[in-house]
This record gives sequence, structure tokens and C-alpha cells, in this order.
Amino acid sequence: MAIKLPAGFEDMLPADAGFYQEFVALAQRVFATYGYEPVITPQVELTDLFVRGIGEATDVVSKEMFTAISGENLATLLAGGTVKAKSRLTLRPEGTAGVVRAVVEHDLVPQGAGPVKLMYAGPMFRAERPQKGRLRQFNQIGIECLGAEAPSVDAEGIVMLMRFFRQVGIPQESMVLLLNSMGCDDCRTPYREAVRDFVRRHADRMCPQCLERAETNPLRAFDCKNEGCRAVMADAPRITDWLCEPCRGHHDAVRSYLAAAGVDYAEDPTLVRGLDYYTRTVFEVQALDTNSAQNAIGGGGRYDRLAEEVGGRPTPGFGFALGFERCRIALEAAGVSVERPTSCDVFVATIEDAQRAAAFALVQRLRDAGVHADMNHQERSLKGQMKLANKLAARRVVVLGPDELAQGAAVVRDMGSHAERTVELDRMVEVLAAEVRGAEAPAPEA
Ligand code: HAM
Repeated sequence: MAIKLPAGFEDMLPADAGFYQEFVALAQRVFATYGYEPVITPQVELTDLFVRGIGEATDVVSKEMFTAISGENLATLLAGGTVKAKSRLTLRPEGTAGVVRAVVEHDLVPQGAGPVKLMYAGPMFRAERPQKGRLRQFNQIGIECLGAEAPSVDAEGIVMLMRFFRQVGIPQESMVLLLNSMGCDDCRTPYREAVRDFVRRHADRMCPQCLERAETNPLRAFDCKNEGCRAVMADAPRITDWLCEPCRGHHDAVRSYLAAAGVDYAEDPTLVRGLDYYTRTVFEVQALDTNSAQNAIGGGGRYDRLAEEVGGRPTPGFGFALGFERCRIALEAAGVSVERPTSCDVFVATIEDAQRAAAFALVQRLRDAGVHADMNHQERSLKGQMKLANKLAARRVVVLGPDELAQGAAVVRDMGSHAERTVELDRMVEVLAAEVRGAEAPAPEA
């Protein structure tokens, strides 16, 4: 039986992969105008980084990590031996912890230095139950800004994300931006206690999972999908009523920057996010109209304690990540084309095998001139070669035949209009390269 792809994983075939690359390149261009530079960190980190950074009680760490044990003797382990911390490796479930580790490890924000702005794109891995919009390997594009505490950093990041979504083609009216503050240790600790108390007081109406989590991570009850829990949590204490003065000031400032930038948002005091490192600003962008339960296309927030958590000096941070596959669903729902099939500029066909060497040489010269050119490599009649040219979506076909070649020329057929003309071989590359460049030139402004 043929071996298939495991559930929750996807192949990106050429047309999809082409769109992904274009999507990442656009993000890179947009984010660069805000000063973000690319960073590439490994897809594997020590398990401890995620346990400490994301939080042991989160779903991501407690049940969704792909963890491997490297370089240990399996027989010793099975006999009850312990695994050294340095041998416990995990496929990254998200990008923030790794980037913050790299910033700390390479001292990218020396004492008193201005912020460092980094962007990344690549696969993340979570052993979640697969469904539409929820994969076990998915691609994120994210940014992290470390070394600045100001609320303008948060607002700038959110504005940048919304701008990117619009530029990529997600209609404004099919997205909603939800905003909240998680406060800081000072205000969140008593708030968490208040929510825990509240859940315990309503224990008879809450699901067993919320009750269990009330002990470790009571705020997760806000994310429970159970109708009974949702009804109870609608009356739970709201973080907005518990924020300390500095956190309230920060939140108000973010809101006024967003308003000044003309970015619409909805306050959502129940937005808690699933990762433990957040302090103050948290936000999420949800796509409407996708018919998918997994409608968060991006999200992030501030994490002022994370650098210390991974062993660095206090360094405030802010960032977000967006999910490529969920954006693709949102774009499809909006009727935006998400495939980038390639087409060949020039296909060189031969009437007889005798012209193959000439075809081979012409194709090379066209490629040297930057033209996407191809030829037949199998036994095929001219008709068969025309079929192949069609399959490659070739725009032009050069037909090399004995009579024309003898006169130093060849026939060029335009596959759109079917018009044919004879072009001298000496000028062929120059003529076709100019036409291809002309087709690529941007249309003059009206
Ligand atoms: P997150 O909300 O866990 O945040 O993930 C960001 C985005 O990744 C989500 O909004 C969603 O679009 C996508 N995503 C998450 N899980 C899946 C999945 N299983 N399948 C498909 N797409 C998924 C973070 O990861 C944080 N690191 C964001 C951040 C950066 N916060 C601060 N800096």
C-alpha cells in the first residue's frame, strides 16, 4: 500500500509554494519599511526553552509538543535511566521563545541599546487534533521587537500587521481586531486569584477540564468551548477592572495610537491567548466569513518578562505571528486567487530530431538572457511538442525546421493569438528577451 502523508501535514505543490514565497516576500517588504530585519533560528530547541518560556500549564507545552530525545542509549532509557536536559529537544511550536533566546544569547540588545526588530517565517509544529485551519505543521510569519517598552511599539506592530493583511488582499470588512491587556505580575496575580475563586464558586456548572485548570491556569476557562462554561464565564471578573495604574496607562496609550492611525478594533476583556508569557497588550485578528472554527489569522502581544525567563537581563518585548494557511483560507473565502502557476516564456520545438542540438543551444542562450525557456527532451512529434508547450502554458513557441534553419531563421508562434512570424536566428534572443521584459514591465499609470 502506498505510504501517505500523516494527518495534519500538507504538501505545498508548486502553485501553492509559489504563492507562499510571494506571500513571505510581501511581508518582508512591508515589515522592512518598519525597520524589521530577517532572522532565522533553528526549528528545534531545547525542550526547557518552551517549558520555561511558554509555560508548563499551557496546552501547547502540556500536550502539543513534538519532543525527541537525542543521543541517548534507548536501552538505558527503557530500563528507567534519566534523560539529560540537553538531550530533550522539541520541534518549535512557535517562534517567539527561540528568537528571544537568540537575542539573549547573542546580546542583541546590550544594556541601554535601542530596540532590535526581527522578522521570521517558517514552519511551526503543534500536535493538535487536525481540522480545517488547524495543522500539525503550519507556517507562521512573525516579528519580535525587543528592548522597547513604549506603547507606540505595540500600536506600530498592530498597524503593520493590519496593513499587511490589507495589502495581501484580505478585505478590511472580513477581519476583526480584538484587543485586551493581560496586566503585569502586580495586577494579574490578584486577578487570576479572583477568576480561580469565581470558577470554584460555580464549580457545579463548569466542565471537569476548567475545574482542573482552575488550579494551574484559571484564565483558560475564558477559552472553553463548552456552552455551560461560556455562560458562567460571561459574568466572570474582567481584567480591565483589575489593571494597575501603569498598565491602564499603557493600554489607554495603545488605544489612542490605534485610533490616531485609523485602525478599528474591538475591546475583548476575555481575550487571554494560549501562551503564558504575555504581559499588558494582547491582540488577535479573526477572519469572518471563513466557515472555519479556526479563524484566528494572527495574534500576539507584549512579553516584558520573557527574556528574564530564558536567563537574560530584563528586556521588554512585543511581537506577533500570523498563520499562512489560515490567511490562505481567508483569501479563498474572499475570492482572491491563491495559486501562482508558473508559465514558460518560450518553448523551443523541432520538426525533426536533427534540429535538437540547435534547440538545445537556443534554449541555453534564451535562459542566459533571463528568459524562462524550455524544450522537449523525449521522443515527440511536433504535435506532441505543441501539446507539451500548452501544458507548460508557454506564451511563445519557436519552431526549428530544416528549411528555415538553412536560411538562418525560425518560425515564432504566439500561443495566445496563434499569429506566426519568421525571426532571424541571430536576432532571436534579443527580440524574445525584449518582448518578455516588455510583458513584465508595469503598466503605465492611467
Ligand atoms: P499563536 O496565536 O499561538 O501565537 O499563533 C499565531 C498564529 O499562528 C495564529 O493566529 C494562527 O493563525 C496560526 N496557528 C497557530 N496554530 C496553528 C495551527 N495548529 N494550524 C494552523 N495555524 C496555526 C504565537 O505563536 C505567538 N508566538 C505570537 C507572538 C509573537 N506573540 C508575541 N510574538
